[in-house]
Order: sequence, then structure tokens, then C-alpha cells
Amino acid sequence: MGIHNKVFSTCVFLVWFCFCLPGIIWVAEASHVVYQELKSVSPSIVGSQYRTGYHFQPPKNWINDPNGPMYHNGIYHLFYQYNTNGSVWGNIVWAHSVSSDLINWIPLEPAIYPSKKFDINGTWSGSATLLPGNKPVIFYTGIDPQGRQVQNLAFPKDLADPYLREWTKPDYNPVIQPDASIEPSKFRDPTTAWFGLDGHWRVVIGSRRKMRGMAVLYRSRDFVKWVKAQHPLHSSKDTGMWECPDFFPVSLKGKKGLDTSVSGPGVKHVLKVSLDMTRYEYYTVGTYYHMIDRYIPDNSSADDHTGLRYDYGNFYASKTFFDEAKQRRILWGWSNESDTVKDDIKKGWAGIQTIPRALWLDPSGKQLVQWPVEELETLRGKQVNLYDKELKSGDIYEVKGISSAQASLYLIFEISGLDKAEPFEEFWSDPQVLCGQKGAAVEGGVGPFGLLVLASGDREEQTAVLFRVFKAPNKHVVLMCHDPSKSSLRPGMYKPSFAGFVDVDINKTKKISLRSLIDHSVLESFGAEGKTCITSRVYPSKAIGQDAHLFVFNNGSEDVRITQLSAWEMTSPRMN
Ligand code: FRU
Repeated sequence: MGIHNKVFSTCVFLVWFCFCLPGIIWVAEASHVVYQELKSVSPSIVGSQYRTGYHFQPPKNWINDPNGPMYHNGIYHLFYQYNTNGSVWGNIVWAHSVSSDLINWIPLEPAIYPSKKFDINGTWSGSATLLPGNKPVIFYTGIDPQGRQVQNLAFPKDLADPYLREWTKPDYNPVIQPDASIEPSKFRDPTTAWFGLDGHWRVVIGSRRKMRGMAVLYRSRDFVKWVKAQHPLHSSKDTGMWECPDFFPVSLKGKKGLDTSVSGPGVKHVLKVSLDMTRYEYYTVGTYYHMIDRYIPDNSSADDHTGLRYDYGNFYASKTFFDEAKQRRILWGWSNESDTVKDDIKKGWAGIQTIPRALWLDPSGKQLVQWPVEELETLRGKQVNLYDKELKSGDIYEVKGISSAQASLYLIFEISGLDKAEPFEEFWSDPQVLCGQKGAAVEGGVGPFGLLVLASGDREEQTAVLFRVFKAPNKHVVLMCHDPSKSSLRPGMYKPSFAGFVDVDINKTKKISLRSLIDHSVLESFGAEGKTCITSRVYPSKAIGQDAHLFVFNNGSEDVRITQLSAWEMTSPRMN
């Protein structure tokens, strides 16, 4: 994702060492491409045409992973990896913003930045934990003078400051160092810690041994002295480095979130890892055997890069936290740019955070469901509705009356019949490949039908969100797809199709819903009430601002009906 069109001399970091070859793309196993000579180029102007209106963004510069999200005394905190000087990765600190509603954000000074021996070469990702007495602590990865990845703690300087502006790093850091069995350059991103029935805290660090991805487990009585467990919490072969692991309980019933230390009857656990190898994340649903400190994924969850994803698009290094105020678990994820590095330098910024989503276990127990936090609805402005709109084969219909470059939509498609569904081929195991072959322009039986967003009036530019229904021997298969192949007339753009299958019994429901959030250069879609989610970044050249149009379409031979469509203009919150 995003590793393309590198026109500058580049180098990739392994620990903090760089291997530079002028004009050559060198993609090694490391995380972020380093543009040595660009990482401290401050933007002279900040380009606005692709800036988002209601997504989390700082005023300028590069951002990546969300870090240490938490709710504390009425305030939501979001920290994130931030380049203080430029719009490519480098000079990383923990930037800090606060909010009372997850939508309006106030920027503060960076909370954690390289200043001590144990983090002098970098302050990388980590998580927050609330200790007894409601005292927050941050666990983060520091890069030490030898380039080793070590784990450090930071505490608020003044608990009476509602914004927790300043953070102190005790001199006893690092509290965890890689032992002889761990590669010091593959040991990072501590999770939120959880408290066991035996009175010990636990934390997991992402790592790998050869190509086996690992969640290395540590225990502590006092949160200061940490001892490595004999075996990892979990590991999986051929998955490579696990970045940004996240481990948390979910309730078997209902949408309520659980605090990270909850376990026992009525609870399942989720382990999510970000695969450096593919730059996608996957998660499993399983059981945490706390007596032996092992997590075992259920048989229904594939435990490798083919597994379930929170989001089948441009979404990485995510992290959840428990929101005590509304008793929900909330997910933040980073959506990288997919234009060129040259464009990012010109724009003066790169990267956004997706809209925070509540997440819970689906009643099937097999997957999670996500939905934008309800607070987002406070931004809904002018609204248009459509009821009972028939979409015959080949129909395209414009949704007029709102400005649609910054908008949100909810609609329900009803299918008149499934007889015309195309046969499903067994070898179509990868939805993304299938979506690349069968985009919006390829006529089908039941579908493709859906939306064309950020489209020019003549539809020369358009990004499609579509569903397509296939007939497999014993069931119907529903594909949800983002097709950005016509999203921009600008030459040389990276326009990947993204897709996931949707686990619905369409034969029974005959209906499928779609919610889409459109925000200038980002499109987030939630299919079937949040069962399958896809995020894409797109950069139209004509469909910008007032020139962006919105259409519904049906390119299948079977008629479909829109039983309900509501579209809103979205207003802009205070954003940093
Ligand atoms: C994920 C990641 C983390 C690391 C951070 C550095 O994007 O590579 O593993 O801590 O970014 O910015």
C-alpha cells in the first residue's frame, strides 16, 4: 500500500540504519520508507483540495499509527505517530489531541518525544492502560542508542490537569529489553496491559522469529519489573513481523464493550495483528485460557494473511480502547495516502485517521461488526431522501440537492430475485482479485449495483462502491467492492480495488444496506450494517468540491430497488 512511484532517492530503515540507493525503490521487511533528504522539508503551503473535512488530521505534516487512545475523566485522548518537520515518515513523536466527543479535537504539544537514552533514536507506537485509582500509564517503544527496540513507560506529570498535557518518563526505563531470543529490531508496539486473576499485569509485544509472527508475553506485579513468559500468548507461522498487536475481550451477546481485563464466561477474545509483510491487518476470534496464558483462535478464523479484516481497504496499525463513559469498545485506524510522495510533499501533509468505530461481536460469534461512533451524526447537515426508487438493469440516477464531496449516506437495496446470479467459481478465494476483474463496468446478473461517489458530472471520474451476488453450489456469495479504477484522470495514480465478502444470507433477507462516508479524498463504506468495511483514498482531478457528484447505479440484469436512501452534507468539526 502506498509503496509506488518513488521518484526520490530512498532508503528503508532496518532498526534505524538506512540503505540508500539513489533513484531506486528498495522495499525490505521494514515498516516505513525513509526519504532521508525529505523528512525534514517543512511544507511552505498546505494544500487544501484533498484535505478532509471531518476526519482526524493535524494542520500539516505526516502522521501514522494512532497511539494510546483512552478515555479519562470525561476526556478522550488520541496520540499518534507524527513527523514534526515534514510530510514523509521521520522525526517521529507522540502528537497529542483531546476531545469531549471524539469528533471535535483540540491539539496539544507532543506528549512523548526522544529525549532520554532509552528513546533517543525514536518514540514509536504503544498503548495506554488505566491503573487502579484511574491513573493512566503509557507503554511505548523507544529506540535506544544501539538501535534496539525497548519498551518504556510514561506517566502524566500532573493528574489534576484534565488534558494530561505533560508526560514524565522515569529514569528506570526501559522496563523491557529484548533478551537473546528476540531480534532487537523486531520487538515493538506494546498493547494495553490487562490484569490477571493471579494479581499480575500482562502485556504483549509484537515480534517475529524467522518468519513466525509472535505476540511476546510479559508479566508484572508492580508494572515496573516485567518478566517474559515462557511462551508467547500466540504465534503463527509464515506471517512475518507482527506490528501493533491488539488483544481484548468481546461480549458473546450485545454491542456493549468490555474493559480489557475482563475474562470468563460469556466472553470471547480478539487478537489483531498488523502484518508488515502485506501492510494489511487481520484478526481472529478465539478463547483466552488465562490459567495457561494462551490464546487459541477458533477454527472459523483463519490465522494468517487470508484471515478476517476490520477493513479490507487502506487501514493499518489500528488500536482499540474501552470507553467507560458509553460502555463501548472503539477502534481507531490509520489510512495512509495512496498518491505519490511527490504529491505529499506538495500537499504538505500525509495520512489521516479513519472515523472512530464502535465494534462488537456478531451474533454468529464468528466475526466483528463495526459502526461509526454515534457522535458523528451531530455533523449531519442538509439532507435529501429517496424512497422506493426502482433501478432497472443499466439505470444510473443522480442524487441531487446536497454538496457531496463531504457527505454521508445510508441506503438499503432490495433485490427482486436471485435467479440471474452469476455462478461462483471456487478459485475466487481472494475478493480483492475478483473485484479487480469484475468492477462497476462489468455487467453482471445480480449486481453490480451501488454508488458512484466523488464523480464528475460526465462520470469520466468516479469511484464505485458496489455489491455483486454470485451463486455457489449451496449458498449465495455476496461481494462488496470499492472500484476506484476511474477515480482520477491524473496520470500515474495508484488505484487499487479493495473488497471483502459479506457474510449475509441474501436469499433470506433479499436486502443489503450500505453506509458510506465521503470526505474529499477518503471513502469509508460499511456493508450490511457494518459486517464488511472498506476504506479507500482517492484523488479526483475534476470531481472536487462543488464539482463532485453522486449517483446510484445498477449494472446487473436483475432489477433492484432502493427502499430507502438518506444522504447528508457533513459539516466540519473543530479539527486540531
Ligand atoms: C506501524 C509502525 C510500528 C512502529 C511505528 C513507527 O506503522 O511501523 O510498528 O512502532 O509504525 O512509526
